[in-house]
Amino acid sequence: MKALLFQEVGKFPTLQTVEKPKPSQPGEVVVKLKAAALNRRDYFITQGLYPGIRTPMILGSDGAGLHNDRLVVINPALYWGHDLRVQQKSFEVLGMPTYGTMAEEIVISSDRVHYAPEHLTAEEAAAIPLAGLTAYRALFTRGKLKEGQKLLITGIGGGVSSIALQFANVVGAKIAVTSGSDQKLDQAKEYGAGLGVNYTDEEWAAKLSAFGEFDLILDSAGGDGFSQLVKLAKPGGTISLYGGTRGKISNLSPQVIFWKQLDIKGSTMGSDKDFADMLSFVDAHKIRPVIDRIYSMEAVDEAFESMAVSRQYGKIVIRISE
Ligand SMILES: NC(=O)c1ccc[n+]([C@@H]2O[C@H](COP(=O)([O-])OP(=O)(O)OC[C@H]3O[C@@H](n4cnc5c(N)ncnc54)[C@H](OP(=O)(O)O)[C@@H]3O)[C@@H](O)[C@H]2O)c1
Repeated sequence: MKALLFQEVGKFPTLQTVEKPKPSQPGEVVVKLKAAALNRRDYFITQGLYPGIRTPMILGSDGAGLHNDRLVVINPALYWGHDLRVQQKSFEVLGMPTYGTMAEEIVISSDRVHYAPEHLTAEEAAAIPLAGLTAYRALFTRGKLKEGQKLLITGIGGGVSSIALQFANVVGAKIAVTSGSDQKLDQAKEYGAGLGVNYTDEEWAAKLSAFGEFDLILDSAGGDGFSQLVKLAKPGGTISLYGGTRGKISNLSPQVIFWKQLDIKGSTMGSDKDFADMLSFVDAHKIRPVIDRIYSMEAVDEAFESMAVSRQYGKIVIRISE
């Protein structure tokens, strides 16, 4: 079968022919993939910026395809366990160290396979799993977002943040966003953002404070900009932190956090319940994830390049079969 094989750190995957996988454990099934989607994780792995990298590897956490002639999506959160609060030690993300979705077929445990909401195309369905799960848990399970609350989402061009904006908009939150691109800020307004501020503007935090204090802030950047987020949060508010694109936070003032009684909550992907709830939510509100662009398997280089420079607004999708 055709697969996008990652063979060497520092290089993007290439299109190769590999042996078809066969079920070897009870409960495993074959899904014939129609589309896969990229996450920053896939790019980080190609750059050696991920623990436990193994090669050769079929990357890809997001996939949609056919099982028993029905369109299904795959839950990429493997071995979460029974505790809804936190994943168990053996938790893994599909696509390293287990072969992922950037191939014509995948063998996967049947409990990871869910029918796709019927209003979605295969490409849209592939754009949902990892980003949708992460956004849903960070916003609702951890962030407890409610109608009418003020929400800030940083780095709106990202896969998780763009779907988080769509989720938050349908529950009636008042939303401000940041981005390094004015064009992405304009796009975000079409999806419900009331205010967009460019984080390269020195006055970005002051401009956001004009929106009011935030009940919830969703951040995946971290870095030294994070210290401004604790100032922007409402007393008693929550910051859901699910990524660290900008690295360590070296300038955080403890006083602001304890005086304002803030909840800073880490959030990673989600439990099996979060995944099922997220799919029901997408179905109930007929949400269609924003797709930046669909690439062919042959154009995999271009897809990874786009992720490398954060050109995208929404998800980067790879079409695997018609
Ligand atoms: N914990 C989890 O379960 C989980 C799950 C998924 C992702 N993540 C992490 O979350 C982050 C985003 O992942 P993704 O797949 O959504 O990535 P992505 O699609 O590549 O988005 C990354 C975004 O980061 C934004 N960014 C860059 N510098 C920023 C800054 N100074 N302030 C605010 N935003 C900034 C950019 O937004 P603009 O383009 O708008 O400037 C960029 O689009 C990554 O660090 C990833 O590892 C964690």
